[in-house]
Amino acid sequence: MQPARYHVAQRLIHWLIALVVLGALTVGFTLGTLGFEGARDRFGLEATNALYKYHKSFGVLILGLMVLRLGLWVALGRPALPQDMTVPQRLAAIATHAALYLLLIAMPVVGWMATAAGGFPIEFFGWVLPGLMAKDPALSEWLYGLHGTLGIAILAVAGLHVAAALWHWRVRRDGIMRRISLP
Ligand code: HEM
Repeated sequence: MQPARYHVAQRLIHWLIALVVLGALTVGFTLGTLGFEGARDRFGLEATNALYKYHKSFGVLILGLMVLRLGLWVALGRPALPQDMTVPQRLAAIATHAALYLLLIAMPVVGWMATAAGGFPIEFFGWVLPGLMAKDPALSEWLYGLHGTLGIAILAVAGLHVAAALWHWRVRRDGIMRRISLP
């Protein structure tokens, strides 16, 4: 039997990921737009280093949370979509969710690889994780470009996801929001 709502652990992790992704995108686009020198001139060296460190730390955290989320899906299942949703609506929901899973796993992996290939440390709060790649500045530059493109894709797909959630909540009023809401 499929559950009527997501398990409380799945609901908590959903909103935690949403919050951390919002922060990672905001800091990421700020650093990507200004570059290291631009950020240092504007915020100072210490704050810029902290922005890089926490961007990387929260990015790695997202990867861990996504793996945990997939594990919870396998272990606990997920509620079925409402019976009265049309086939195109179902396909749109499935495609958006699949894209979000893929993007939120690919994004931190590409960020990790870009950083390691650039010869920079993979900072995770108080630790430095292994880069797992040899230094290769040309590859790093290409991967940072891909990281930026994936960031725009996440913005677009997350925008669709939020718009659909608002439509279910305020227009269709079909109880979808209650399956994932915290209370
Ligand atoms: C889901 C997780 C992540 C998201 C949503 C995210 C988002 C972004 C975005 C949108 C940018 C701006 C790219 C641009 O405009 O060129 C960026 C830059 C950056 N990201 Fe991430 N990122 C994530 C994970 C990571 C991880 C795990 C690392 C490394 C361990 C990392 C390292 C970096 C670095 C160093 C930059 C600055 C690149 C530059 O200065 O050009 N990111 N990130």
